[in-house]
Amino acid sequence: MTVSGFKGKGLVNSFFQGDDSTGTLVSPEFTLQRRYLSFLIGGGKNAEKLALELHVDGKVVRRATGPNDRAGGTEALAADWWEVTEFRGKQAVLHIVDQAKGGWGHLNVDHVVQTDRKPPGLLKDVRREFTGAGRYLHLPIKNGAPKRVLTLWAEGKVVVRNEVELAPADADWWAPMDVADWAGRALTLQVDALPEDSWGLGAIERSDVIKGGESLYREPLRGQIHFSPRRGWNNDPNGMVFFNGEYHLFFQHNPYGWSWGNMHWGHAVSRDLVRWEELGEALLPDDLGPMFSGSAVVDWKNTSGLGTEAEPPLVLIYTAAGNPTVQCIASSTDGRTFTKFAGNPVLKEITSGNRDPKVMWHEPTQKWVMVLYVTQSGGRHTVHFFTSPNLREWTLASVTEGVAGSNYLHECPDFFELAVDGDATRRKWVLLGANSEYAVGTFDGVRFQPEHSRLPGHRGSGFYAPQTFSDLPAADGRRIQIGWFQTETKGMAFNQSMTLPLELRLVSTSEGPRMTFTPARELEALRVKTHRFDGVTLEAAGGNPLAGIHAEVVELRAEFVPGDRTTVEFLVRGAVVAYDASKQELTVQGTRVLAPLRDGRQRLTIYCDRTGLEVFASEGRVYVPMPFQPGVGDQALSVRTRAGGARFEKLEAHELGSIWSTR
Ligand code: FRU
Repeated sequence: MTVSGFKGKGLVNSFFQGDDSTGTLVSPEFTLQRRYLSFLIGGGKNAEKLALELHVDGKVVRRATGPNDRAGGTEALAADWWEVTEFRGKQAVLHIVDQAKGGWGHLNVDHVVQTDRKPPGLLKDVRREFTGAGRYLHLPIKNGAPKRVLTLWAEGKVVVRNEVELAPADADWWAPMDVADWAGRALTLQVDALPEDSWGLGAIERSDVIKGGESLYREPLRGQIHFSPRRGWNNDPNGMVFFNGEYHLFFQHNPYGWSWGNMHWGHAVSRDLVRWEELGEALLPDDLGPMFSGSAVVDWKNTSGLGTEAEPPLVLIYTAAGNPTVQCIASSTDGRTFTKFAGNPVLKEITSGNRDPKVMWHEPTQKWVMVLYVTQSGGRHTVHFFTSPNLREWTLASVTEGVAGSNYLHECPDFFELAVDGDATRRKWVLLGANSEYAVGTFDGVRFQPEHSRLPGHRGSGFYAPQTFSDLPAADGRRIQIGWFQTETKGMAFNQSMTLPLELRLVSTSEGPRMTFTPARELEALRVKTHRFDGVTLEAAGGNPLAGIHAEVVELRAEFVPGDRTTVEFLVRGAVVAYDASKQELTVQGTRVLAPLRDGRQRLTIYCDRTGLEVFASEGRVYVPMPFQPGVGDQALSVRTRAGGARFEKLEAHELGSIWSTR
């Protein structure tokens, strides 16, 4: 994790090629001259094995350690100090000791200073009460500030705990904590440790509108066609499901930080798969741990008993990543409020690396099937298959191994059936991992039989942990996937996003069925202005038909027949997307991928947003997602050919509107 909170360019950090390095760093001798010795310290917490020690007369007279003793936590250094008046005039030596191995087996130290001015103390368990109305408590956040444990109490009961980079002075941004669920009750916020001079707790405001919300969805780095949360960090899409006429997208969310942490399930809904409305958090961390990734199903027959047959429940299946790490369920009949099952967990820990349950109904065996990622000893990646009659009791059915030493089937498995070449009588199962590599095979309700070793999924970067929708209407017949799009947005009050919705298909090839990715047709609704140049032929020295178009967010579609040695090069707001016909190779911002011609033709689709590109080629055989931030002033498009010409049967540029525009 990023180390922060030190002064200047360097610090002492005993994380050397990992946590297992040990040793002691000893300072030169110095004379204690002032009343206080202050310092910055961070890293692991272990008073014996991880310590900054003050030695006087050969004895340890003071000792300090870091703040972290469990997974998660923070690498930030925080101020601490000792009163040393009694040793004034004596010779002293500092030892920085690291005798700890494994998780958090390191210490960070910096900025040791002798001073007569008392450094601000750290107050423990400081509380502030909130009365009155207002849906949100606005927490001031300073990215990289020491993490404080903030506990929210409602009428004497702990509601939720979060680790928050509470701003000591000015805020980088404000994180709204939605307290609507406890309206009218006495609320208390408690901070575990607060520097005496910190402004953070006092600065919290309560109101009904999001602070800084005037520019919501119009921020400079807000993706305009990609979903991102209003505030905070997102990673994996979770619980993707169609329920009561709405697409639901849940997601790994840190509502109170710009980086990963405090995992909640954020929640957004859409009626058209394109425009999303963010709702409040669906799942908050609880005593079983933070809410890690998982899935959702509609329990049509009410097998779980969590709804009725008339009102079938939407059931979320998620990982509570505490110690132990277990699988749990929660349900809802209105798609808005979610109740955690009283009998949680529904699946006990197998190993501490078990997570990300994806569940589906298996019609032939009339059972629920869960695929669960499980790390085995030696770091082996496996997917465990479980079955259940009711989503509450699960039985192990089989185990599928990943490939040793690879990231295949590492986290977030997805498992679904696809028709080959659209022929419903020829169906195959696809098992897919977080990095989007996959295998095609058969499944009998117990065991998955892959027909070959792993195959590559996407060919770009910044695409991870994709998931497909459950319960799309039968008449739809599609398999739609959305991935986590790792688009970093520095300086914004939010970070990361989701990819466009992608339709997955299986097509026959000489090597067997292979998966294709194409942008979901619903995206066409975003086109606001179309420029067509169908039928143009470009020569090497020819002009640029796209000159004169200025578009911030754009979709380009081209179908061209290139000469044998031609390179067709698109410049999209500064991004280079080129196709070299002699090598049958696509290059997206320097990333090269084989992209075969079909009947001498290449079909390219390019989406460009403020935060990334998504490029599709070779009938969906090639999908290249790519985080990218175009220059603000550069809205130009161009296409030209080199080393030959190309005939464009189709060339269209669509200026796109925003998915946020209706709000
Ligand atoms: C993948 C992942 C999952 C886990 C989640 C936690 O990105 O590591 O395995 O459930 O993120 O946020």
